[in-house]
Amino acid sequence: MAAVQWRPARVLALTIGLGVIILLFNFHLLDRDPVVIVGDQRISLKKEKGKPFAVDPLMKMTGPPEGILYGPGQAERVNATLLSLVRNEELEGMLQAMDDLERTFNSKFNYPWTFINDVPFTKQFMEATKAKTQAKVYYEVIPKEHWEVPAWINSDLMAASASLLEQQGVQYSGMKSYHQMCRWNSGMFYKHPALLKYKWYWRVEPKVHFFCDIDYDVFRYMQDYNKTYGFVINIYDSPQSITSLWPSVQEFMAEHPEYIHPNNAMKWLTDAENRPEHNEGANGYSTCHFWSNFEIADMEFWRSKKYEDFFNHLDRAGGFFYERWGDAPVHSVALGLMEDKDKIHWFHDIGYQHIPYFNCPNSDKCKGCEAGRFTDGQGLDQEDCRINWFKYAHMN
Ligand SMILES: *[C@@H]1O[C@H](CO)[C@@H](O)[C@H](O)[C@H]1NC(C)=O
Ligand SMILES: *[C@@H]1O[C@H](CO)[C@@H](O)[C@H](O)[C@H]1NC(C)=O
Repeated sequence: MAAVQWRPARVLALTIGLGVIILLFNFHLLDRDPVVIVGDQRISLKKEKGKPFAVDPLMKMTGPPEGILYGPGQAERVNATLLSLVRNEELEGMLQAMDDLERTFNSKFNYPWTFINDVPFTKQFMEATKAKTQAKVYYEVIPKEHWEVPAWINSDLMAASASLLEQQGVQYSGMKSYHQMCRWNSGMFYKHPALLKYKWYWRVEPKVHFFCDIDYDVFRYMQDYNKTYGFVINIYDSPQSITSLWPSVQEFMAEHPEYIHPNNAMKWLTDAENRPEHNEGANGYSTCHFWSNFEIADMEFWRSKKYEDFFNHLDRAGGFFYERWGDAPVHSVALGLMEDKDKIHWFHDIGYQHIPYFNCPNSDKCKGCEAGRFTDGQGLDQEDCRINWFKYAHMN
């Protein structure tokens, strides 16, 4: 047998070959940032400093959701209302939000508007808003017993807590009506007599913007595809405002294990990998939540016995007043634990802004927002936690 002859040319070829293999392997390693694979998309985590995405999924997900959708006049309206808790002084901002939503969606579908206030609406408010839509409009006052601070809340303790929270920089902690509003949005709005006749609502706040034409009936989509809750933005909360929320929820779960849905989003709620200091500050809750100034949802979930029990447990714990529990984390925790996570839908195609955050898809249906931009505030990109939802739940 002839021995292999190590001629210089062969050695060279072998070395180059090996070099290429090593190089390729290293490229492969370089590509090994944490990645979430959703459908046919690979979404890299933390590739760009301070931003959760190298390429925002909004750059790729452009059109409406998959499935059969109904355009204007193609199907009956469903049992739904556009809903706004708003003050007379917020008229200008309300008219602007109405302009946007009527232009992009509601002039095609004519869902009724319901405006709710803790005092009666002025004639001026009613006339100006009515003039913005062809749809029916309703003006309602909150029943006193739904708005007032519950009897078991101690006002001295509340004042002391508020000044403590203020020192920690928790916004609006000294404003009593802000606490009342959060509690009302958490556990009261869907009990308003004027809303009992509806199953679905779309929450609209004054001053928000809508950028993209929505040519299908979103309520019909929710109904046909068995969705409970639709959101656009997922962000972190200030842990100081909800330090005892998660411990309270844990008590509730121990009392009612039967309410925990088998297909829950517990991992999304308890993530401690991204921004672990948030999880720590909130005693086990990542603080990631659906930003509830936008919600398209089924009130039957809020009206269910499990949610009523959940709300009452939290209400008794006092955190709506002794801390500053928002309706966003309260809704989100309830949904994450007690609802099938597949019934929660990301409306990636609804272009939206509530200062300082955006949801803006890359689509020629959109005007006036920059595709993929999450915020126009300084240093706020890290507040985006959609990546957690995509990782632990889904993108549908
Ligand atoms: C609309 O939904 C509400 C709440 O689910 C229900 O009580 C009511 O009967 C429904 N109305 C219609 C017309 O389906
Ligand atoms: C929605 O739920 C109904 C009743 O459970 C079921 O018959 C239907 O197939 C579901 N539709 C979808 C799209 O999942």
